[in-house]
Amino acid sequence: MINTVRGTKDIIPAMVSDWHFVESVFRNTSKLYAYQELRTPIFEKTEVFSRSIGDDTDIVNKEMYTFKDKGDESITLRPEQTAALVRAVIQNGLDRESSNLRLYYIGPYFRYERPQKGRLRQFHQYGAESIGSPNPEADVEILLLANKVIKELGISDYKLLINTLGTENSRQNYKNALIEYLNQNKESLSEESQSRLQTNPLRVLDSKSEKDISIIEKAPVILDYLDEESANHFNTVTKLLDAVGVKYVIQPKLVRGLDYYCHTVFEFQSSVLGAQDSFGGGGRYDGLFAQLGGKPNPAVGFAMGIERILLILEAMKITHKEESECDVYVVCGNKELSIYANQIAEIFRNKGARVISDINRRSMKAQFKEANRLNARYSVIIADEEVSRNSVIVKNMASSEQQEIEISKLEEFEI
Ligand code: HAM
Repeated sequence: MINTVRGTKDIIPAMVSDWHFVESVFRNTSKLYAYQELRTPIFEKTEVFSRSIGDDTDIVNKEMYTFKDKGDESITLRPEQTAALVRAVIQNGLDRESSNLRLYYIGPYFRYERPQKGRLRQFHQYGAESIGSPNPEADVEILLLANKVIKELGISDYKLLINTLGTENSRQNYKNALIEYLNQNKESLSEESQSRLQTNPLRVLDSKSEKDISIIEKAPVILDYLDEESANHFNTVTKLLDAVGVKYVIQPKLVRGLDYYCHTVFEFQSSVLGAQDSFGGGGRYDGLFAQLGGKPNPAVGFAMGIERILLILEAMKITHKEESECDVYVVCGNKELSIYANQIAEIFRNKGARVISDINRRSMKAQFKEANRLNARYSVIIADEEVSRNSVIVKNMASSEQQEIEISKLEEFEI
């Protein structure tokens, strides 16, 4: 037998209604904020990601599915959407059409990570990006949308952590102070953090290693290194969030795993997820358009992991499984009558009912058993005697009440 590749999962029919539910929340809520859907290819030229996410990030360094295609071009299965979305906006000139672009997406993404609960190699994200405004109002709109989605999903127990990475200038000043502090404690740092200190010092703040935690606790925080522009931006974001009643926790050590961020960064966390407790994250990325060859264009956005959201809903015992997949089961007395079965099934389908008609030529007893198993609300019985009078029997499966109805009147029958 051949199984799925490690870290990938089938979504079988029993799980699909929960996927449909979360996807409908994403689409409907995005519409409320006038975000439009964008779909891009699942693979891109490798440089779309290597030029934007950052050479010293785990994603680019260790996790990308990159291969040469038969034309010797380096191709990468998208590990995230933001960079590919910026590529698509530039290529299609979407940013020329309007000063503000509001886009959302739902789809599969690929990262070669060590699989565990909530961490897959093919996973799915819903995300939204607001392009064109440098103002804190855009950050807050994005946070309001994310927050509304989470509420509509039925998730109440979660935390929004926010921080700022400020302007390039603030970040550089902070980086210098952090490097100096970490260098003083270098010997006590874990091996991984010692190497990150050289390549991507901000990422040391993200370390979960026992050895690093007490050192990180005493590390300088970026909030003490903000220039006026950075402080104003961040203060306005928090003020606007307060005004609209969105709860958040300022987490001055929050840095994200991608290098394109500036100013506001944030994460949504849920305690039910265990080690992989972040089910969404995002921030502002004003430099990315220029980095990918477009004209500079400020932007901010977020993405949420759909599998992690489903884990939260499962832990909360929220499910949207349908109790029945079938409204009407057409039971056919013998195979000569099957021309009627199709005709009658179509009459009910045209009325919007979900109909199953036996295609296995089973006995009537077996067909009733199947109708019961599927929790059908009605069965329609096609048998010689009634057909000779141009009618069928409609049986209410819950009450067992049955009535003979002329085939020509079935259209009017209220189910
Ligand atoms: P990210 O934090 O890398 O950000 O991913 C966003 C979410 O995707 C995570 O919070 C998590 O729920 C989910 N996720 C990531 N990796 C995995 C995995 N291996 N298995 C399961 N779920 C996973 C981004 O991707 C940015 N593009 C977000 C963004 C949009 N920033 C600005 N705009």
